[in-house]
Amino acid sequence: MLDMPQKSTQTEAVPLMRTSGLKVHFPIRKGVMKRTVGHVRAVDGIDLEIREGETLSVVGESGCGKSTLGQALLRNVEPTDGVIHFRNRDNDIVDLTALEIKQLRNYRTDIRMIFQDPFASLNPRRRVIDIIGESIRNAGETSEARVREKVTRLLRRVGLRPEYLMRYPYAFSGGERQRIGIARALAVDPRLVVADECISALDVSIQAQTLNLLQDLQEEFRLTYVFISHDMSVVEYISDRVAVMYAGRVVELAETEPLFERPRHPYTAALLASVPRPDPKSARSSNRHWLAGEVADPANRPTGCAFHPRCPFATDLCRTEDPAPRAVADHQVACHHAHELSLEGVRPNA
Ligand SMILES: Nc1ncnc2c1ncn2[C@@H]1O[C@H](COP(=O)(O)OP(=O)(O)O)[C@@H](O)[C@H]1O
Ligand code: SF4
Ligand SMILES: [Mg+2]
Repeated sequence: MLDMPQKSTQTEAVPLMRTSGLKVHFPIRKGVMKRTVGHVRAVDGIDLEIREGETLSVVGESGCGKSTLGQALLRNVEPTDGVIHFRNRDNDIVDLTALEIKQLRNYRTDIRMIFQDPFASLNPRRRVIDIIGESIRNAGETSEARVREKVTRLLRRVGLRPEYLMRYPYAFSGGERQRIGIARALAVDPRLVVADECISALDVSIQAQTLNLLQDLQEEFRLTYVFISHDMSVVEYISDRVAVMYAGRVVELAETEPLFERPRHPYTAALLASVPRPDPKSARSSNRHWLAGEVADPANRPTGCAFHPRCPFATDLCRTEDPAPRAVADHQVACHHAHELSLEGVRPNA
């Protein structure tokens, strides 16, 4: 159905997307003159590689900058600084941040988004055929019969009945609406899908079904996912690699299993303390540190390591010097003391 390019061994080593020094700073304006008095540094220098075919999760507490990062990858919000290199269908590398809006339109079908609240993101006055069909038409399809045929196939593929074509969004359950949102994202044969908290609003029983659907679709259509979530359990289930964000930066990046079993950043370890494990043998020791205090304010970033006011291991060095990311046992970690800490993770889920 979706005509995806074949994976080439030559290009596998080159990531699908790579951000370098990506920043999104929102100005804070005050007074009648709307003078800029500061900046919310929502995304504050992110170097991230997204490999073709993987699910890279971005995790962190609310306010860490996950959604802003996701939106910046599509340039729905304009980066303040940095570059976003994207490998296009001809295997040429383009810097999305350097494109004019007109040129950027060529990439609107390559990179798609799935949102948290499907009800808010689906126009209530439009039927399913038009909600999904619109992007197919926008991508140049002029035959209504072919649009209808494609939407019907997509609906079936996401587990909805074709006769739902003429219905309006209110006639569906939350889980069904999210399936429509997924069908809409896939309608134009994307290569990269950014899913922002896309199952957070669903009932737990529906969450698992939706995750399974996303995984099946990934395999079938060779999709690459950036999966944004605040929920470590969901992230553990779906990800190949995990990027942990704090105060607009990636503080730890590793493959899922090592990150969960042996976190190297104190913030990752604190997030893992919330992961439930039914097995009493895997009960966490009492000296585990839970997250205390407020998440760092991106408008007023703490000095040195932004996590230091909440970190039980903080030293004078942490309070004054910003730790640069470096490799510690196959993890990328931005922590002065990562190499000397022994942090508790969680065992793999049976
Ligand atoms: N358009 C905006 N203008 C000003 N501040 C914003 C805007 N969007 C997000 N922020 C701020 O940027 C920070 C990161 O927000 P967000 O990316 O939504 O984080 P997350 O998705 O991790 O919860 C927050 O402090 C938020 O209030
Ligand atoms: S750099 Fe210091 S304050 Fe920051 S996470 Fe590491 S130990 Fe904690
Ligand atoms: Mg968010």
